[in-house]
Amino acid sequence: MTRATVCILGGTGFVGRHLAARLAQREFNVTVLTRSCARHRELLVLPSVALVETDVHDAASLRREFAGCDGVINLVGILNERGHRGKGFRQVHVELARKVVDACRANGVPRLLHMSALNADETGPSHYLRTKGEAAALALAADDLQVTVFEPSVIFGPGDSFINRFAALLRRLPAVFPLACPQARFAPVYVGDVAEALVRSWDMRASFGRRYRLCGPRTYTLRELVKYTAGVMRLRRAILGLPAWAGWLQALCMEWLPGKPFSLDNYHSLSVDSVCGSDGLAAFNITPLALEAVVPGYLGTPVRGPN
Ligand SMILES: NC(=O)c1ccc[n+]([C@@H]2O[C@H](COP(=O)([O-])OP(=O)(O)OC[C@H]3O[C@@H](n4cnc5c(N)ncnc54)[C@H](OP(=O)(O)O)[C@@H]3O)[C@@H](O)[C@H]2O)c1
Repeated sequence: MTRATVCILGGTGFVGRHLAARLAQREFNVTVLTRSCARHRELLVLPSVALVETDVHDAASLRREFAGCDGVINLVGILNERGHRGKGFRQVHVELARKVVDACRANGVPRLLHMSALNADETGPSHYLRTKGEAAALALAADDLQVTVFEPSVIFGPGDSFINRFAALLRRLPAVFPLACPQARFAPVYVGDVAEALVRSWDMRASFGRRYRLCGPRTYTLRELVKYTAGVMRLRRAILGLPAWAGWLQALCMEWLPGKPFSLDNYHSLSVDSVCGSDGLAAFNITPLALEAVVPGYLGTPVRGPN
């Protein structure tokens, strides 16, 4: 059997590193496009994974890199933009998704897996969710391609930026932890399950033209997740749930800090619960792993590479 060749955008990120490792194990030839090879050398240890430095926003570069590929996986996404007006979100989510579709068509690449997010919707409450929604709709509208869209809740696992971020903040803040949107609900899903769903969908005809919501087995409020994280790290912290106005103010202030640890756009995204109505993992015969089975294994020991 000939090995399929897949090109991944955003393959150097948290999900991408796990996915590239799995694809390499399953006999795929993988090309990961990146803005900087130097920052992601760890991926080069994986057999049959090539790292190519390119400008993914340049349509001609995309067309060149997609030549000869059997499929493309677009994982590029940002939680925050540099400015404050939604232009960055539009460029990275919507315009890039359009260029990816065009470059697939130009090269006759049949298969496209597109990573979106739960609640992504053109009428959503934040720039993040609206532009993710627009990008997913645009990808699915390309019915001359075999497109599958994935909509995960928050994703956990070694190297995540959700549980690990709260862990870092909990370590830094003594005694009291002020928490915006404490009642926001999530169904965290394991990165290995997300990667496995993408791999299994690859040649599953029933997944063409469809979107799948991906959630873990349990729903938690944000307060419960932070409390759980503190518990795993054996830190005694009082979690102070902020009322809506104070959460909004916290987001407003924090979006001007270096690295934007929290922003008004994040705050608006949290106004809708990130939980699934349907079990997308079941369609791929995957039984989701629980947070409690994985988090204690990596919390406090940051892992960069794939598992
Ligand atoms: N993590 C979660 O909890 C979660 C939940 C729901 C949905 N998602 C979606 O899943 C996808 C992957 O998430 P992730 O957590 O793996 O993200 P990540 O770790 O931040 O990685 C995203 C990758 O995208 C590339 N990228 C970032 N900004 C870019 C830009 N301005 N232009 C071009 N490329 C850019 C980067 O690659 P280079 O630096 O190599 O260029 C980066 O490695 C995203 O679409 C995200 O929205 C994630």
